[in-house]
Order: sequence, then C-alpha cells, then structure tokens
Amino acid sequence: MLQSRRIVVAVGGSVAAYKGVELVRELGRAGAEVRCILTPAGARFVGAALLRACSGRPVATDLFAPGEPDHVELAAWAEAAVVAPATADILGRAAAGQADDYLGTWLLAFPGPVLFCPAMNRHMWSHPAVQRNVAALEADGARVLPPGYGALASAAEGSGWGRLREPEEIAGALAALLGAGAAPRRPELPAPPAPGGGAGGLAGRHVVVTAGPTREPLDPFRFISNPSSGRMGYALAEAARDRGADVALVSGPVALPAPRGVAVRRVTTTLEMRQAVLDAAGAGGRAADVVIGAAAVSDFRPAEVSPVKIKRGTRAALTLSLVANPDIIAEVGRGRLATVVVGFAAEAGAGPEEAERKLREKGLDLCVWNDVRAPGAGFGTDTDRAVICDRLGAREDTGTIAKRELAERILDRVERLLAGDDSGAAPARGSDGR
Ligand SMILES: Cc1cc2nc3c(=O)[nH]c(=O)nc-3n(C[C@H](O)[C@H](O)[C@H](O)COP(=O)(O)O)c2cc1C
Repeated sequence: MLQSRRIVVAVGGSVAAYKGVELVRELGRAGAEVRCILTPAGARFVGAALLRACSGRPVATDLFAPGEPDHVELAAWAEAAVVAPATADILGRAAAGQADDYLGTWLLAFPGPVLFCPAMNRHMWSHPAVQRNVAALEADGARVLPPGYGALASAAEGSGWGRLREPEEIAGALAALLGAGAAPRRPELPAPPAPGGGAGGLAGRHVVVTAGPTREPLDPFRFISNPSSGRMGYALAEAARDRGADVALVSGPVALPAPRGVAVRRVTTTLEMRQAVLDAAGAGGRAADVVIGAAAVSDFRPAEVSPVKIKRGTRAALTLSLVANPDIIAEVGRGRLATVVVGFAAEAGAGPEEAERKLREKGLDLCVWNDVRAPGAGFGTDTDRAVICDRLGAREDTGTIAKRELAERILDRVERLLAGDDSGAAPARGSDGR
C-alpha cells in the first residue's frame, strides 16, 4: 500500500522527535517517497540534515528562507501527510487554521488526508483544550491516532498516556488511510449558484436538515441509539447547498466531517435536536422554506437518567422505563413551520403505505419510505432504495441509487413544491440525470 506513495512527514518539537526520524526510515523501507517538514521547535530536537539524509530529499523548515521547498508545490506533490510527533502546539495551531509557519501554511494548502500522531505529557494530552483541538481536527476530516500508554520519552515523566505510537503502527495507520481511497479530507467549495434555476434552484432559500441518530442516556456511560450514519442527511445538506440554499444541518453524533459552507449544529438527544430545529427553522425571524427530517431520532428516552454508572451488582435483570420523545417533524409539519416539510419513514417490513400514513398525520408534503433490511438500503450504506410519496398519493420508486442522487431527486420535488407546482407527479428527468 505504501509502495511509491508520496508522503509528507512533519516532525514537531517533542522529545519523541527521534521517532519521527524512525518513521521516515520505516516509510522508506516500505517503498514510499518521503519529503519532510520540520518545525523550528522540532529542529531543537533533531537536525534537518538527519531528515534530509533519511528521506533523500530537501527538508522544509522556513516559509521565507531562500531555497526552501515551495509550500504550494509540496502540497500538490503529496498524496498523504503524517504529523509525528504532533505537539499540543501543532494540534492547536492546525485546529485554528493558523498559517504563521511552514507547517501551518502547508496544512491549509494540502487538501488530502492527514494523520496527526500526538505525543506529549499525559496531563497535556488530557487537557480539555487539547481534546477540543483534536475533536475540531477530526470534525474537519483529519485523522488522529491517539497516543499510546507506556514509558514516556522524557526520563522525568515515567509512564502514562501520551507516548507517540511506534513507527510501524503509524505506518500501518497511514496505509489504512491510503487504502480507504485517500479521500480528500475536505470537500471542494460548492459551485457558485447558477442564475435562474438548475444548480441554483434553491438560491436564497433557507433549508433545515436533520441527520444521524440521537442518543438517549441511561447513565454516564450508556445510551439508547441506532446505527444511523447520517449520510442521507449530510447528502441532502450538501445537495441543497450546491443548489444555492442557505443550509442549517442539525446533526446527531456521526463520524462525518462538517460539510463546507453549511451551518452545522451538533446535538445528542432528541430533545436537543427538537430545540435546535425550532431555533434553526425560526432563524432570522422568518420561517424556514424547507425542513427535511432525515435524522433517525429515538422515539423514546429513559424516564430517569442515573447520575452514576448502573452496576451489574446482584441484579439478575434491569427493567427500563421509557417515555415518548416529541415527534419533531410532526411538530414542524402540523405547525407549518416551513413551506415544504419532508419526512422519512425507515421501516423494517411495513410498506410505503406507512409513509403515506405519516404524510397525512404529521402534515408532511413529502415522505420518503425505505426498508432498512433491503440490500443496498438503510443504515451505513452509500446507496438507498426509496419510494418518495406525496400528498396526492403518487409514489416515485427510485430503485437502488446513491444517497446523493436520492437527495437530488428529493430536492427536485421540493423545488417544484416551492414553485407552487403541487401536481404531485414525479418530474420528468432529462438525460443529464436531473
Ligand atoms: C524538552 C522539551 C520537550 C518537549 N516535549 C513536548 C512533547 O512531547 N509534546 C508537546 O506537545 N510539546 C513538547 N514540548 C513543547 C514544545 O516544544 C513547544 O510547545 C513548541 O512550541 C512546539 O512547537 P511545534 O509545535 O511548532 O513543534 C517540549 C518542550 C521541551 C523544552
């Protein structure tokens, strides 16, 4: 997997910097082409000459020094990057998008996959500021290989969490990242809206989308949830954004990066999601044009949340008492909080008539039915097979298609409803697939 791959290794100012040098040698042994970035603090621990000797290529250290590798050229050259060791300082600068040195500038210029491998004192690693920065980097699409437990490189530290992973482990994680398709860690900027329909058919519209599961806590450790990946809701948010809409995405806990150009509000429970939807739908004092409920919300939550961990102890069984959660999309539909309200009916056995029942009872304009047990449909897949039901009883069976394509079909229908064409008929689709 690493043979002939073009990898940038960035080494930060940590006692573990010598393992960054070992990583360069490990990647070289695996057949990768390696070029290095060394921070000024990293240069206090290992020399640029050593990295140049191990990688066989010039080392980038200073953005402005004559003869340094050009950061834009190096960003265009690389297929993937690994920052090892990543100091607390690097994590903070990268999370904030700072570009005040070579590495920070290069990270912004490089759109490909980046693996951060932190190494630091255990108290530094557990500091909330560092954990916030890690979460922000992951939300932006980077991978973070958390430090391991063991003897810390500084003799005074003893053992603890904070030890840089071994070069072989880092090389393995990098190979896995490249094997995952080396997807860019951030999507391209949306195309500018085209005037007069087409790609800009939702220009000026305010669209609220919910996505992912919700979690209902039982105690500080456990929760009730479902396997929703959030992909359908994220595809809808991105597709609406690309049509020029001003999009608010209310997301439960998912592993997807925040789509660029979309206002994301992350929530955990159904009650939090309800409040966020009501806030977003009324944002700016005007009702939303469109609300799409693609989240798989928990219909019930525990009546009581234990403040302490529920232990097995002497119990042979545990009976949970659940209370119903509010039905968010019904509240939006019946209250007409948006011009067009779209719901989803993820079923396991019930047919599209279930979606039609929801459509009537919840005041929806469209309801998208799918059977989560069908091949190529449901949770965690990139495709779906759906039936889009409307108020006039028409059903559009999409067949098995990519979730992004399903999103486009739903938005085609939404655009027609916004334009006042309520014929209920599925729109004719041209040869370009729209
Ligand atoms: C002896 C010594 C060891 C250090 N080790 C670490 C470390 O392991 N991890 C870390 O995050 N910072 C460590 N630091 C602090 C960083 O070197 C410092 O925050 C620096 O600004 C990091 O710069 P950089 O992120 O550009 O490499 C250490 C500092 C010294 C003096």
